Parts: sequence; structure tokens; C-alpha cells
Amino acid sequence: VKVHKLNGYIQSIYLIEYDNKMMLLDGCCRCDVAIVEDFIVNKLHKTMDHLKLIVVTHMHPDHAGGAEVFQKKFNCKIAIPVNGNSWYQGLRGILKHKIDLFLTLYVAKKMNKSIKNIIYPRKIKHDYKLRDNNKIPGFEDWVSLEKPGHTDCDLTIFHPEKGYAYIADNIIGTRKRYIAPYPIHYPRIYKDSLRSYLELNIDKYFLAHGGIREISNKELSAFILSVSPEPTNHKQLIKRILNRRKNKSNSFLN
Ligand SMILES: [Fe+2]
Repeated sequence: VKVHKLNGYIQSIYLIEYDNKMMLLDGCCRCDVAIVEDFIVNKLHKTMDHLKLIVVTHMHPDHAGGAEVFQKKFNCKIAIPVNGNSWYQGLRGILKHKIDLFLTLYVAKKMNKSIKNIIYPRKIKHDYKLRDNNKIPGFEDWVSLEKPGHTDCDLTIFHPEKGYAYIADNIIGTRKRYIAPYPIHYPRIYKDSLRSYLELNIDKYFLAHGGIREISNKELSAFILSVSPEPTNHKQLIKRILNRRKNKSNSFLN
């Protein structure tokens, strides 16, 4: 198994390569589909039909945004968390989705990226639903683990033999330290999810924001202690953006 880390619009993309098949860890932003295609065709010199599966860990625009484009354009199969499609349901869901799209563009702007088309549906047409401890279809050396808290459905995709864990947004790596993602809807559950990583013998953490890291259990335990017990949500964030001149901390957004 080969792991390729690609730079997406605002996040890292992990392409898992085998001799005759590939899997993408997370569905990227919609505008990242071209980046993945370019890498597979021009760098790996393979055809797009090698890309068999897109695994969506949660429904945010930089994790689910390209999934349906991959499906339509290249006939890839899509796997989503079992309750993924309820995340943006209802009127509140519509609003939350719009805010999340806006926040993605806000982060992109802070990263000096141009504005791109990141629009994607609130519900993803899918082939598989992943629960806790499910083997990934076609890639049975990997398992999905339910590690919620950031949203209500976050998956970690784990390779027990290699000790690789794609933990999506569950830990954000900056140059100097680790920070919690935004938002954290369920802080207590989030901390339980982090704590469970201590038992897994993870050699390499693949972060959606911060690359591939070796995080010792000591570092992880210290990080867990530093996580606030209070939820973070859009209401607080909007206040914070309005007050950004007063409060220059930008560690909030990811
Ligand atoms: Fe996220």
C-alpha cells in the first residue's frame, strides 16, 4: 500500500494506491477533483478507472464536496458515514450548509487562494454506509471507526497492520502545535473519541489539516487535557469574525 498526500483547496487529500486499485480518503472540495485526476493520470500514469472508492468521513465541504463529481465523472463508488446524510437536513441544515460553504471560502481566502466553485449537495448519493468497525469495501485491510464530536458522524479510517489512521479533522496540526477543529458540537464525545486513539497503536496520523504526523500518546494525552469542555459553534464564530480586529487569534478555523 502506497499513500500519496495531495494538496487540496484548503485540506490535504490522501490517495491510497495498490497495484490495481485506488481509494481516496475523503471526498475533497468540488474544485479538487481536477487535482486528483491530474495526479493519477499525469504523475502515476494510471487511468481513472483505477480509482474505485471515495470514503467520506463527514459532510463538510472539504470532505464531501467532490464525491458526487467523482461518482458521475469516473463511476467511483462512494462510502459515507451511516448518519451522514442527516447532517444538513431541514431548515437548520440548509442554513448550516450555507455557512459551512462560506467558512470554507473564508479559510481559502486566508490561505491566499482564489474563490472557486465548491457547491455540492447536502445529501450524497452513495453506494455504502459505514458504521463502527466495518471493513472498507474492496479495501478490507482498512476499517472505519466512528469517532464523532467534531460533527455527529466523523469517521476515522484505520489500517491496523500498518498503524495508519486518517482522522480527518479530529486533530488539526499547525506548525507548532495541535489544535481542536472548528466546530466541536459534542466536546465530551469528542474527547472520548480522542481518548480511544490511545488504545489503537497508531504509528502515523493522517490529518486533513496538518499532513502526516507521528503523535505520541503523551502528546495526545496533553492535547486532550487542553481541549475546552465547551462546544464551539457558528454563533460564537460569527461574533468572533466580527471582532477579529480585537481578537487576532486565527486558531479557531479549520
Ligand atoms: Fe470538518
